[in-house]
Amino acid sequence: MNLKQQVNMSFPNTNPTSTESWKKLKKLADNPSTLQKYFAGNPSRAKSYSISWEQFFVDYSKNHIDKEILDSLLKLAKETGLEDARAAYLGGKPINQTEGRSVLHTALRAAPESTIQVDGDNVVPEIYKVRNKIRSFSKSVIDGTRKSASGKPFTDIVNVGIGGSDLGPVMITEALAYYKNHLNVHFISNVDGDHVMEVLKRVNPETTLFVVVSKTFTTQETLSNAMTSKKWLVKAMGEQAVATHFVAVSTNLPAIKAFGIQPENVFPMNDWVGGRFSLWSAVGLSIALAVGPDHFEELLYGANQMDLHFASTPLAENIPVILALLTVWYTSFLGAQSEAVIPYTQYLHRLPAYLQQGIMESNGKSVDRNGAPVTYETGNIVWGEPGTNSQHAFFQLMHQGTKLIPAHFIGFKNPLHGNADHHDKLMANFFAQTEALMNGKNEAQVREELIKIGMRGEVLEKLVPFKIFTGNKPTTTLLIDKLTPKTLGALVAMYEHKIFVEGVVWNIYSYDQWGVELGKQLASVILNEFEGTQKAIHDFSTEQLLAHYKKDAS
Ligand code: F6P
Repeated sequence: MNLKQQVNMSFPNTNPTSTESWKKLKKLADNPSTLQKYFAGNPSRAKSYSISWEQFFVDYSKNHIDKEILDSLLKLAKETGLEDARAAYLGGKPINQTEGRSVLHTALRAAPESTIQVDGDNVVPEIYKVRNKIRSFSKSVIDGTRKSASGKPFTDIVNVGIGGSDLGPVMITEALAYYKNHLNVHFISNVDGDHVMEVLKRVNPETTLFVVVSKTFTTQETLSNAMTSKKWLVKAMGEQAVATHFVAVSTNLPAIKAFGIQPENVFPMNDWVGGRFSLWSAVGLSIALAVGPDHFEELLYGANQMDLHFASTPLAENIPVILALLTVWYTSFLGAQSEAVIPYTQYLHRLPAYLQQGIMESNGKSVDRNGAPVTYETGNIVWGEPGTNSQHAFFQLMHQGTKLIPAHFIGFKNPLHGNADHHDKLMANFFAQTEALMNGKNEAQVREELIKIGMRGEVLEKLVPFKIFTGNKPTTTLLIDKLTPKTLGALVAMYEHKIFVEGVVWNIYSYDQWGVELGKQLASVILNEFEGTQKAIHDFSTEQLLAHYKKDAS
């Protein structure tokens, strides 16, 4: 079956620019209004553009939309077949057609009684088998019944993985640090030998458990780091310690065996789980070890709640759908190149990095589902840092720079440590920033302020232009009751579905990642050159750089 036939089989394939709504949105984009005017003209705007769901309150009223724009975006979703696409995605159809796979991270958090078929088999019982294995294994490490090769309880866990086999587990363990137990969890990802050595420096081989996570078990970084860790362990404790101190998560069982990991220490995963969506699978083993299996399962439960919301809520009240359509509007019609994610909790400091892989590896595509170049802007750049730190770093550009940067502000009503004084300060900043970004400060206000502090004449006149804030900067506020495993699961799942919806509207394949291959291929050619097994021809710049590297390396 060729690609085009597969496309026709189960997934909508609509060039969005051919739809009525796209043409209308193009026209609407040519007549921009301002946020200030939108609010002035509609006293119930805040209420109309908000969604309350479970522990989430999403206020998207500070965005460049009005009823006509929003209706057209919703129509665009319909015209590009979002509802059929959603059914195909959640129903396990092979929507990752360039790799011939289903996309079923949602199955990993489905209720035990659900039936989700892949190639005619219900995958749910197998998912629960692995989940039970995660539960009993992590419990035994946490309570110390599982012992190291020298008979001691484990004190440290080292997760060895990269990309989706690292970013999800790191982000979640950091986010749930409040719920953590006594185990110290470390992460080695980069092939940079200094990274692995810095981690190994901090742990004791006698009480360290390595969790090697690689869907393919062919990733250069992970295999190198796993091998270095193995040598380090063997040097301290002997070859026989590997069986007790190494476990693996992968789809590639023969490669794990060849590495020397015992079959009972293998946590399988399936090829219908994409790496960047895999934290809900056995890839989350380090999470279960860090916070315990109960919290891990609550995380999955929260994600499942968001799945149900996404699956059954009308598009106009569907949180991931609305957020995705806003992104499409800014990216494809208003020229935004990036989107900021600003969590107002230090616990979520790795969320932007995690979302960078999820969003940019998924929707950083320029060819549509027919293999033709797209004629519109797709996947945007995602970046961010926690507030309030980011206020003292890049907020200057957000307030007074020239770029259009729609931003998500994520805040929590309740702090975890109950420090109300700090939390009120944090949240005062949270609310103030979106207000300032929207309303800005006009010339008259600036003058009045300067006059109040006694400034007059030429000095005042010179300063005025620099103190004006145009405002009109769009933000979406997500106010969540409390950072718990459940709300975190829902938040991450919300972004996963947002990615999906954007991909449907843009008519691109969100679940492959061919763009990461070329660099890997060329790195292996250069490595062969370093090892003297191959001589390749490079461009003049690369030749020059390689010559310098060889000189300096000695
Ligand atoms: O960077 C490409 C990629 O394939 C990611 O999609 C994936 O998360 C990462 O490499 C790690 O892959 P693996 O889990 O197979 O080692």
